[in-house]
Amino acid sequence: MRKVTNAKVQVAMKPVQQAIYNRRSRREFTADPVDKSIIEAILKAGIWAPSGLNNQPWRFVVITDASTIKQLSETTHYTHIVAGAPVLIGVYLDADSMYDAVKDYQAIGACIQNMLLAIEECGLGGVWLGQILKNRDDVNRILGVESRYELMAVLALGHPAKTDQQSNRKPLADFILKTI
Ligand SMILES: Cc1cc2nc3c(=O)[nH]c(=O)nc-3n(C[C@H](O)[C@H](O)[C@H](O)COP(=O)(O)O)c2cc1C
Repeated sequence: MRKVTNAKVQVAMKPVQQAIYNRRSRREFTADPVDKSIIEAILKAGIWAPSGLNNQPWRFVVITDASTIKQLSETTHYTHIVAGAPVLIGVYLDADSMYDAVKDYQAIGACIQNMLLAIEECGLGGVWLGQILKNRDDVNRILGVESRYELMAVLALGHPAKTDQQSNRKPLADFILKTI
């Protein structure tokens, strides 16, 4: 277990925290395919997210077909990320399973984050793509998905071509409104 030191405490980082802190948005991938069993493990992590009333409103389209990936890459500003990914996961909200829009959207976010953490833990890399939502109708047409399913995100994933990305966050204190 890795030791993380700050000025006052030494905390032993547990695996979930390691995945949380090590996860970065990876946007470049090698050409190596991703094993089907690993894709399944990632999806399974997604469906074990919490959801209001346990309604499990998420649905997925798993895309590894090269010509479909190429078509999808033309629906977004991030063509290079999508075109370079060996696997895409279209994450959908099923209108027929909804009960409360805010809570259902929150559940989808939890599902996506679970998958990103699983991707990290499997030694793969991935990125949550939202810009593509601008052309969600085109995405649905390319994937042959009915309008009852609302595209929430596309995850691009694969074996990362590099792992030296940096990110940053504002100090925790900036987010605390008050401690009572
Ligand atoms: C709702 C949402 C939409 C995003 N859309 C995109 C996107 O379209 N393209 C992209 O390259 N990254 C996208 N990202 C990734 C963010 O840019 C990234 O998470 C942020 O810069 C923090 O970097 P990190 O994930 O490496 O910590 C999105 C993230 C979220 C949560």
